[in-house]
Parts: sequence; structure tokens; C-alpha cells
Amino acid sequence: MKNVSEKLNYSLGQYFSAGKRIMAVNCLQFGDTGKGKFVDIFANWADIIVRCTGGDNAGHTIIFNGEEMIFHLIPSGIVHDVNGKINVIASGTVIYPKTLIDETTLLQSKGIPCKNLKVSKDAKVIMPYHILFDRLSEARAGSTKIGTTGKGIGPCYADFIARRGISVNDLLNPDLFRRKLTKNIEYVNRLLQTYHPESIDTIMLHEHLENGEFSNKEGGLNIKAIAEKYLAYGRILQPYITNTDEFLQDSVDRYNILLEGAQGYLLSVDYGTYPYVTSSDCSIQGLMKGAGLEMFSVDLPFGIIKGLYMSRVGSGPFPSENGGEESEIWCGTPGAGADEKIIYANCDINHENEFIQGIAIRRVGHEYGATTGRPRRIGWLDLPLLRHSLRSEANQIIMTKLDVLTGLKKIKICSCYQYTGEDYVYGDKVIKFGDIISTAIVDPYFLYYCKPIYEEFDGWDEDIRGVRKYADLPQNLKNILKFIFIEVESAELRIISVGPGPEETIFVGEEELYGDED
Ligand code: GDP
Ligand code: IMO
Ligand code: MG
Repeated sequence: MKNVSEKLNYSLGQYFSAGKRIMAVNCLQFGDTGKGKFVDIFANWADIIVRCTGGDNAGHTIIFNGEEMIFHLIPSGIVHDVNGKINVIASGTVIYPKTLIDETTLLQSKGIPCKNLKVSKDAKVIMPYHILFDRLSEARAGSTKIGTTGKGIGPCYADFIARRGISVNDLLNPDLFRRKLTKNIEYVNRLLQTYHPESIDTIMLHEHLENGEFSNKEGGLNIKAIAEKYLAYGRILQPYITNTDEFLQDSVDRYNILLEGAQGYLLSVDYGTYPYVTSSDCSIQGLMKGAGLEMFSVDLPFGIIKGLYMSRVGSGPFPSENGGEESEIWCGTPGAGADEKIIYANCDINHENEFIQGIAIRRVGHEYGATTGRPRRIGWLDLPLLRHSLRSEANQIIMTKLDVLTGLKKIKICSCYQYTGEDYVYGDKVIKFGDIISTAIVDPYFLYYCKPIYEEFDGWDEDIRGVRKYADLPQNLKNILKFIFIEVESAELRIISVGPGPEETIFVGEEELYGDED
């Protein structure tokens, strides 16, 4: 029997027989679809693995030698470092140096030296005040908060656009860095006057912010402490820092390059459910730009989705959410993740109350944030949102977590929406009450009035984690897959994941999905 690496070569051989290529693994939903698992698998093929956008808001899980590992900044291909694979954190990312240093230290303690890790000199640095403002503005927003990860991502990207950004390269030039920092902190201290000093000090005491080391204990920031610490971070990271844009541009056509997506298309600042998004462009174009490769094209763009259900962390529209608003409020309540493990310890995935059913699916699927531990909101697969993602995104589909719904009697799929609001002017069109919408318009105000229309299917009881061939999947599941891929015309199902481990993977042949198997 072929191992996963041999199956990969066999399955992708037709695409990669001619020359060195670029592949991308990008999420088409709200993140957490299993990018880490597939980047780890495809790292067998790649020579270079690139994290292109975002920062330590991401949490990518892989199972390495039977052990679960979660990466926030370093690409999930890093466990292949010992085999000479090069991992790159590219110029489109935002880097909190402490996270990067902690990740490399942890990896080294596990025997992964990170000797082929490259960090872009042009990536932007997350400063303590970015984390502070992220948390202060979320607290101030109350019920209208975005539900960010609190890692300073938005303020860091905003400073870059506002031409106040500090780059990784600045950490290597002490005088330049001090000058930029001093100027920025003057600005920051003026802004901080509009916040309560106590709330500032409470946030600054956070362990992620070096337990108060950066605070002047008077509701402001200690420039000297920040400068010293960040310049020390720069000295530690110096061996990794280089011009990765140039390195990657020169590698095209010479090496196999794998781009690792972060977050998901529906969280893209350009294409997602704005403003309930992250602050980077999570599309394939965004990945290419983040890697410095915007003038090239991706040969094999993989789009990854959770099969048959979806998840979302933080606030924002989610029309097919199990339990609707009740679920959104519950999942946004601090401590809910721990509480529900006790209160709903034995809840059933077939529970007739959809809110409780959502909790049960979350528990079976371990849908708790890999970065923040927050419960992920659960909902049925939403085809209008998928069609929106597929308009411009990868159409080679990887479907993960199919094993999670084993035992569910009825599986619902949202095939379209019925609009239930007042006239909505959409550019040169007007959408009216009662209109049927097959491709989502991702304005939260509009989605709020979209009532999902569901198709209902019988589920299956067989344990599918051991299945390695499409033909061996339960017929009811195959019927559902066939329905989905007829509905979203442009997409092709290439890979199915039936468990977190790399071996728990099915490579789908073209004839299998559309064959006469009813
Ligand atoms: P990412 O952010 O896209 O890399 O995904 P996360 O790591 O945040 O979340 C995906 C979770 O699902 C991780 O705990 C994975 O180990 C797990 N996972 C991935 N694929 C499968 C699968 O097919 N079945 C199950 N049960 N778990 C999976
Ligand atoms: P991976 O790469 C899921 C969400 C946050 C919040 C919004 C903005 O593991 O899929 P931010 O801190 O980025 O300003 O938060 O984006 N978010 C994610 N949700 N997976 C992620 O990453 C996410 N990164 C950010 O929950 O709703
Ligand atoms: Mg994740």
C-alpha cells in the first residue's frame, strides 16, 4: 500500500511532471479548515514553504510523529526542516518577535533546528502598542466588537498603511529603530489619553506583553524598555532575516514552492464579510503579493473547506449557524469553552435543539480556537458563501473533517438564501424581499436578512476514519458530495480528509465523484 507521500506524487504527478511549480493551500471559509495538515503533507513535495500573510492570529495544527503541534507564525512545513526544506515567513506578514522566538525555541527543544528558516526583512513588526490598541478598541466596542484574537494584527497593518510601520529590518539598525519608535510613541501616548489608565495598565500586565515590562505604570509606555527588548529580539532573529522577496522570485521555476494560507477567504479584508474580517488579504492573490510573487501565477491552487459543516471564531454574519444568535452570543462569552465542557458534557449531535446540536458538533470536532481557545461557532455548509469564494479563488477542493459528522441522522446543506429585508441596492441592482440568492453578497447588513434554504440528506453510521479510497465511503456521504459539486459547478473535489493525521486522507480520482454510483 502506498504511503501518503507516494499517493501525493501519484495524484499530483500530472500537474507537476513539467518543471518546478507553485502550489497554494488556501481556506475558502472562515479559517481553521485544516491548512496546517495539508501544508505538512504537501511539504513532502515542496522545496520551499512560505507563510505569506497575517501573523500570530493564526493557529495551524499538525500531527507530527503522533504528537499535536500548533504553529502561529512559522509555516507548518517547518517539521521538514531537517530534510533541507526551506521555510519562509514572507514580507506580507506581521511579526510579533516574541512569538517567533518562542516558536523557534520550542521547535529546537523538539529536535527541529529551524536552520533553513528565513524571515523577511520587510515583514512588519507588531509593537506592544498594537496589541494594546487591539484590546482597548475591542473592549470599547462592547457588543459591536470584531472578536479579534487580540494579537495586534489590525493596528500593525493600519500603521503600515498610515506610513508609521516598523519593519523587521529596522530592528537591525538601533539608531533608526529608536528614532522611529520615539516618534511613534509620542503619537501613541497622545491617543492613549482618551483611554482609562487602569484599563491600559491591566492590558500591559498581560504575559504576552512581557508581564508589564513595557508599561511606564502611569497609563503610558516605557520607550527605553521597549527599545532594549526589541533590539534584543532583533539580535536573536538576525540569523534568519533576509530579503525573502528576492529569494522567492529567484526560486520560481527552479524550486517547488508551496504557499501556506492563513485565516480564510471570508475573513479577507478585501473579499470577506467586512468589517468582520482580519486585516490582510487572505485570497490567493493576497498570498502571492505577500510572498513578493504577484507577477507570477499559481499552478495548483488548492481551496480548503470543512466538509458538511462550517465554523467561525469571533463576531460577524453566519447565516447557517446552529442556534443562530444564541450561539454567537454564547461563543463570544468569556469562559464559555470551559463551561460547556461541563454543562453539555454529554450532549448529542442529533439533539433536536440546534444550539445544543452545534455544541455537540463542536465537541466532537474539537472546534476550539487553536490560538485563543475560544469555542468556534458551528453551522451547516453554506453554498452561497462557497460560491462567492469560488468566484475568484482556488477551485481544486480539499474537504476536511468529514469524520466529525459520522452518526448524524440528518445533514442539512444551505443551497441558497431567501432575502427577507427591505430593498437592498447593490450597485446597479436592487434586491427585494423574497428574492432567492444563490451567491452570497458578503455585506453583514445584507446577510443578516438572508434566510438559509436547506436541502436535507440522510447521514451515515460507518466509522470512516480508516477509509482510504473514495469508493469505500458510505453511499449516503457520496450522494451528498455529488450534490455539492454539482451545485458549485466550477469546483473539483481532489482530496478528502477523514481525520487529523496525515494518513487519514483520500485522494479522489476524477471519474470517482461523477461516476454512476447512485
Ligand atoms: P488551520 O488553521 O486551517 O490550520 O486549522 P486548525 O489547525 O486551526 O484547525 C483544524 C483542526 O482540525 C486541527 O485540530 C486539526 O488537527 C483537525 N483536523 C484537520 N483535518 C481533520 C479531519 O479530517 N478530521 C478531524 N477530525 N480533524 C481534523
Ligand atoms: P487560521 O490561520 C479563524 C478571526 C478572529 C476575528 C477576525 C479578526 O488558524 O485559520 P484578528 O485578530 O485577525 O484581527 O481577528 O479574524 N481570525 C481567525 N479565525 N482562524 C484564524 O486563523 C483566524 N485569524 C483571525 O477570530 O474574528
Ligand atoms: Mg487555525
